[in-house]
Amino acid sequence: MTLNPIKIAPSIAAANLLCLGDELKKLEAAAVDAIHFDVMDGHFVQLLTIGVPILEQVRAATKLHLDVHIMVTNPDAVIDDYLQAGADTLSFHIEAAQHAHRLCARIKQAGKRAGIALNPATHWQSIQYLLPDLDQVTLMTVNPGYSRQPHLTTMHPKIREFADFCRAHNYAIDIVVDGGVSLSNAGTLAKLGATTLVAGGAVFNGGNTEEAVNALRKAAAGSTGI
Ligand code: DX5
Ligand code: ZN
Repeated sequence: MTLNPIKIAPSIAAANLLCLGDELKKLEAAAVDAIHFDVMDGHFVQLLTIGVPILEQVRAATKLHLDVHIMVTNPDAVIDDYLQAGADTLSFHIEAAQHAHRLCARIKQAGKRAGIALNPATHWQSIQYLLPDLDQVTLMTVNPGYSRQPHLTTMHPKIREFADFCRAHNYAIDIVVDGGVSLSNAGTLAKLGATTLVAGGAVFNGGNTEEAVNALRKAAAGSTGI
């Protein structure tokens, strides 16, 4: 089976935030497929990261696709703010949503891509009936809250089962894997059925950003893996 090239979405919350403009230029030079924009609210997850004001500035600074992942307790209350601030894809956590179907409809009405993220403990079947309304599903392979945590290989059967289900039902859903992606597991994740890999620590590792992105692309296309 030939795999489509996997998309790489660096998580800029893991970048040097004091040099965000330069980091964006490097990601443009590396022709990344999207920027993954992690929002943490200090409630759903422990840390506070970047939010609406920074998203507005990033939106003004780049044409790259902005994949906004809101790890917040109240997505129903804040979703419009992130749509207006310039998200291209907006993913909220199913564990936090009051009315997930309505949220998806609001995102689509705004002309944006709708996504749902699942914590490691959440079964993909919890969103089975929403799949016709979704553009993207983010499967967490760490517990959300921090970059540079170890990748949970115990999520691999979930990725495969979900990808198989989507294929069997002709759902053209972008399957995003988020958490601890590295050169050593990118190939395996692509084979399991991931279509996009989020990468924080693997891209922002103190080295050359473009080389790190290219190495991940190569690893995803290759046969090495856990
Ligand atoms: C986890 C975030 C991830 C993460 C990615 O809370 O949603 O996007 O920071 O960073 P790495 O690739 O270092 O796990
Ligand atoms: Zn994320």
